Amino acid sequence: MAASREQFGSRLGFVLAAAGSAVGIGNLVGFPVNAAKNGGGAFLLMYAIFVFTICVPVMMAELAAGRHSAKGPLGMYASLTNKHRGWAIAGWLSTITPFMIAVFYTVITVWIFEYLYNAITGDLRLLAEPGTFGEFISGGTIFVHLAIVLAIVNLILVGGVKEGIERSAKVLMPTLFLMLIGMVIFVLTRDNAMAGVEFYLIPDFSKITGPVVSGALGQAFFSLSLGMGILITYGSYMDKRSSIPGSAKMVALADTGVAFCAGLMILPAIFSFNPDTNPANLSDSSVSLIFTFLPKIFLALEASIGYTGASAVASVFFLLVFFAALTSLVSIIEVPAASLVDQKGYSRKKSLLVLNALMLVFTLACTASFGMVDWLTEFTRYAGAPKSLFDIVYDVFYDTILPLNGLLICLFVIYRWKKHNLDAELESGDEGFKGSLLERYMHFSLGTFIPFILAVIFINTVAIKFF
Ligand code: PFF
Repeated sequence: MAASREQFGSRLGFVLAAAGSAVGIGNLVGFPVNAAKNGGGAFLLMYAIFVFTICVPVMMAELAAGRHSAKGPLGMYASLTNKHRGWAIAGWLSTITPFMIAVFYTVITVWIFEYLYNAITGDLRLLAEPGTFGEFISGGTIFVHLAIVLAIVNLILVGGVKEGIERSAKVLMPTLFLMLIGMVIFVLTRDNAMAGVEFYLIPDFSKITGPVVSGALGQAFFSLSLGMGILITYGSYMDKRSSIPGSAKMVALADTGVAFCAGLMILPAIFSFNPDTNPANLSDSSVSLIFTFLPKIFLALEASIGYTGASAVASVFFLLVFFAALTSLVSIIEVPAASLVDQKGYSRKKSLLVLNALMLVFTLACTASFGMVDWLTEFTRYAGAPKSLFDIVYDVFYDTILPLNGLLICLFVIYRWKKHNLDAELESGDEGFKGSLLERYMHFSLGTFIPFILAVIFINTVAIKFF
């Protein structure tokens, strides 16, 4: 079976697909505001250090284990440990987590599609009205849009690794980069844009507190799609002649570059399109920013470039975010899909069919947990507050299990799979890796402080979120 496994057609194809996974809502909206509010240039510096000293080694570990086993996470943990029961739990966690994250990410992607549709059809004014978001997320059209989003994702996935994932990434990612650069140029040439750039970039080291540091690491970890089984799965489609260290660095650079540019788009836009905005009031939530705050900012452009111009700019923005979300969604649904193919011997089509049926049940339940169905809206209570089904999925899988999965992969590659196997896999396609500083750094960091930091984050999150 492993011999016939499909592979990416080229290294560029792999890098674009992995960057497609990494570049998502987190980069385009979460990062800029987080950075601006938490120390500007100081945050940026710390984020970049985390990406290259902590996230890149974990990324390389995931890719190496995936490529060596030629399996998704479930099969990887089973085959590299001779079906050890304990490690099988890690395999399950790395398969269920992406499924559940895919559920909440699908819900958000459907909202983005809803906004894109309305921006294109000229309803920007409606989008900017207070209350619109609340009506949308509990309105009937959401189901039509859910069907459209899932249809697009499946159309890509059913094509397979090369003709589906890689081919779509080769079109969507360069288009996304061009749209982003176009938006940055447009925004930076508006009046008062420099005030936004200053707010974004001037470092303020006094803002770097404990929670900001752990937030920055969490953001970097999520942004690079770590702990979700995605890189294990994409690694399993990499050919042995491609350099894992080189590819990982390129993906990290592309992802961080997009996040940085997104800041040059969002903050100057806020300052320039609507100079009355008080930046101190910027919400920490990406959801409220995209869906309630930014539409107002775009509408304010009407005064200078007219309603049609403002709608066009908003449409490009939502298309950009939609493409970013789509390529991330494709990568995350591929994880459980690959596991069904690997473990159950299903054909790709059958595996996608089964998954979609499950996804539909969960996404509909999550969608309905926004006020449509009472018991789903107040599903349970913890930390003194009622929680919807959507909140639970987010708190448990995204916030809590993600660092745990990261911790497990570090411990796994160093202490179970062992360093020499990791080295051999990383040297394949990269002669220079042998004996390099990076190799020694990988051993040290993955065996010591990276799992330690991830364990602290995991325990801290459990304590804060659930007690
Ligand atoms: N890097 C992605 C983001 O920043 O949005 C992380 C991700 C989330 C990947 C959800 C895939 C996914 F379905």
